[in-house]
Amino acid sequence: MSDNPRSSIHGQWSSRWVFVLAATGSAVGLGNIWKFPYIAGENGGGAFVLVYLLCIVVVGLPVMIAEIMLGRRGRQSPINTMKVLSREEGRSPLWQLLGWLGVLAGFLILSYYSVIAGWAINYVVEMASGTFSGTSAGQVQTVFDELLADPLKLTMWHTLFIIATMVVVARGVRGGLEKAVMFLMPALFVILIILLAYAMNNGAFMEGLAFLFTPDFSAITGKGVLIAMGHAFFTLSLGMGAIMIYGSYMRSQDSIARTAIMIVVADTMVALVAGMAIFPIVFANGLEPGAGPGLVFQTLPLAFGQMSGGLFFGTLFFILLCFAAWSSSISLIEPAVTWLVENRNIKRVTASIVCGVATWGLGMGTVLSFNLWAEVKLFDMTFFDLLDFLTANIMLPLGGLLIAIFAGWAMSHKSKENEMATRHVFAFNGWNFLLRYVTPLAVMVVFLQSTGLLAKMTG
Ligand code: TRP
Repeated sequence: MSDNPRSSIHGQWSSRWVFVLAATGSAVGLGNIWKFPYIAGENGGGAFVLVYLLCIVVVGLPVMIAEIMLGRRGRQSPINTMKVLSREEGRSPLWQLLGWLGVLAGFLILSYYSVIAGWAINYVVEMASGTFSGTSAGQVQTVFDELLADPLKLTMWHTLFIIATMVVVARGVRGGLEKAVMFLMPALFVILIILLAYAMNNGAFMEGLAFLFTPDFSAITGKGVLIAMGHAFFTLSLGMGAIMIYGSYMRSQDSIARTAIMIVVADTMVALVAGMAIFPIVFANGLEPGAGPGLVFQTLPLAFGQMSGGLFFGTLFFILLCFAAWSSSISLIEPAVTWLVENRNIKRVTASIVCGVATWGLGMGTVLSFNLWAEVKLFDMTFFDLLDFLTANIMLPLGGLLIAIFAGWAMSHKSKENEMATRHVFAFNGWNFLLRYVTPLAVMVVFLQSTGLLAKMTG
């Protein structure tokens, strides 16, 4: 056990398992079920999936361990954790900026995440009311297009989702979500397996598998590699302090590395199963794998609409998707709320309202980007595209890079060993090596390569 005497003013998880559940709840979300399939589809499948898996192992896991470790050692909001740890290690106070970058990224991500979660809420209603029973691909497309064209409907669901998120955050994570997540995550997994079975029997299963797992390197671009790496951070909730703040509520005696591995495995499984359920349906119905953000909302209703018991399972699926998004969204705003509580001396409730209102307002930009502002573009991207690109592909990898450098280089060996308290010297050294050399190098190479700079530098 570490001899770190600090404790968090915000509380502590009641057991090791609660931390695993909460962190898995944060990791498993829209990223796995909505985003992963459509970006894999847009970037040609197999090769993209391979790069993504590589990034999970080489970059994601080491950074996850580092982020939990920093959080548990600092035991405060990410900004103050970086302040305390940099002082303790005799480093520049500028490391606090890492915390600020994270808080900003959390705001930006939640603002659009909430709008997409709103789509999922809308689909609960559509599913339950039988809109999709015996439907065709064309009809499913129309329902989706009509939703995006309706700013009022989008705003309504976005508002509802932000309120739901802030209510949980205001009550403290332990107040209710702990218990909900414990039941919901396994349930989501079971439904995914049912969908997988459906896809195996009724979809073009082999074609789907081939698309996902046969790497065709000519199908992937430099930008595709950047998106794969960005997604590794996004799907594991890394690079902005979410896992750091969750780590700050972790008990001192629990093993960080083993816990991190469990979270990473669970998250990756959910994404792969989602992909294996969705692509067979895509191919069997002559849909486009590169359909973009609407992909799951266009494929799954089709499958449910034809399945016996589809009304029930479909409704349940979208309810669970909402819950998966919910248990993720709270972690996006928790760093900002804890900072306000620590530094502005205001109550958690007040801090939650302030953060909620701000994110809600920003989210309106995403709502409008699908309709009234659809033609307003910067660098050829809509407001939503821009936020998504900036956060997932720039801010999170940058945050992760800084975390790796801080934990790998700025922190003394002694502090790290002390906090990790592991008897497995070989594993510790392996992790430290990845963190110092492999992770930073991988992130930098991907950055340079995607901007075309690497090609210029090597002539
Ligand atoms: N990982 C979540 C998902 O896949 C989203 C998320 C929650 C997140 N917290 C985060 C992404 C922090 C980046 C950083 O849906």
